[in-house]
Amino acid sequence: MTHICASLLAADYARLGEEVQHATKAGVDSFHFDMMDGHYVPNLALTPDHIKALRSYSHLPFHAHLELDNPDDVLCKFETLHAGMIIVQWDTLTDPPRTFEKIRSQNMKVGLGLSPDDSLDEASRLFQDLDLVLLLGVYPGFGGQSMQPGTLEKIESARKYIDQTNHRIPIAVDGGVKPENALSLVQAGADILIMGTALFRPIDMAQTVRSIRESLAGSQHR
Ligand code: DX5
Ligand code: ZN
Repeated sequence: MTHICASLLAADYARLGEEVQHATKAGVDSFHFDMMDGHYVPNLALTPDHIKALRSYSHLPFHAHLELDNPDDVLCKFETLHAGMIIVQWDTLTDPPRTFEKIRSQNMKVGLGLSPDDSLDEASRLFQDLDLVLLLGVYPGFGGQSMQPGTLEKIESARKYIDQTNHRIPIAVDGGVKPENALSLVQAGADILIMGTALFRPIDMAQTVRSIRESLAGSQHR
């Protein structure tokens, strides 16, 4: 079944605990914490302290998406936080195996994020070392953007690549996901829909989650 993940970048920062509880009740499957450094992307966002502060507000998995340079320098901040997975951006890695090993040594899974212009051919060599690949549908840094053209084709290519191997990692799509394009993303091969604006802006989040699940019913790609 397709997994719906709530990106807290779009939540109301004055009420983050309530937002996490609300999304949990609305039926999402996990939470996504964007962490930005003002350098890799021209924006700032959440921090490991938010994971720590919000951990008790939901039993669902939390993961961090590091949209920042030098991810190795901040991995120690996650050691005791019970984030299930760290997703690092491909073009921030100088020594991918070393970064992946460091994440695993802290008992977390490893995800790799690709921006719209990152080459799938080059990055796919690392897929065998991953637990998840995240395809950004937008240029990283901001919520509320429209999905870039070519995202569906990139998901299809990643799906083909993964299905040819014995290492069947899930594909997440992040940025510009909304009820109107959920079905086409899943049909292209996405397993996880990460959504910020589309979940946190509408008045009735539970209805949004229900309508996505209804539009996807019976339409899994495998
Ligand atoms: C973009 C972030 C996304 C963002 C998605 O840099 O990685 O996680 O929160 O936001 P929406 O769903 O609003 O496009
Ligand atoms: Zn993200």
